[in-house]
Amino acid sequence: MRLFVAINLSDEMKDALINAQNEMYDMGIRGNYTKEENLHLTLAFIGEYPDAGPLMDALSAVSIRPFDITLDGIGSFGSLWWAGMKDSPALTAVVRRVRRALAENDIPFDRKRFSPHITLIRKPSGEMPGTEIEPVSMTVTKISLMRSDRGRNGMIYTELGTIDAE
Ligand code: 2AM
Repeated sequence: MRLFVAINLSDEMKDALINAQNEMYDMGIRGNYTKEENLHLTLAFIGEYPDAGPLMDALSAVSIRPFDITLDGIGSFGSLWWAGMKDSPALTAVVRRVRRALAENDIPFDRKRFSPHITLIRKPSGEMPGTEIEPVSMTVTKISLMRSDRGRNGMIYTELGTIDAE
């Protein structure tokens, strides 16, 4: 199965992201819009891995305290448009701890530098508009091990387990 570690977003944060998507759609941008239930912030991408058990064991060594994240504008990696997050030492530290726990348990993951983003649209038509995103904040109280499956109508993400803040 295909696995990743992520922060699932509050309804208020998802609303702000959906508003930005709607504005882009109304400006004529077509493409593969991330569905509301799939909006998330990936901390580590593991990819194909046979068993969630050892992964949850590895992640359970990560202790987290509640911390805040705040939306911060839109950007792009080529044909992927995303919403960014304000610089957050707490978020960076959690990512470092998650990735260290994976490495210490010999669980392979994508070691690309962490660049906090929430994918809004893949393969958009046209140029990126100057859409603004409301700078909504949320308090993160858990991180999630997620499974990704290809469904008939796009990706289906399922939460397999959580690490809860103390
Ligand atoms: P993306 O939205 O920028 O593609 C599930 O695929 C999640 O893992 C997505 O948030 C995706 O980010 C992220 N991810 C990170 N590295 C990935 C990789 N090498 N392959 C696929 N998804 C990756």
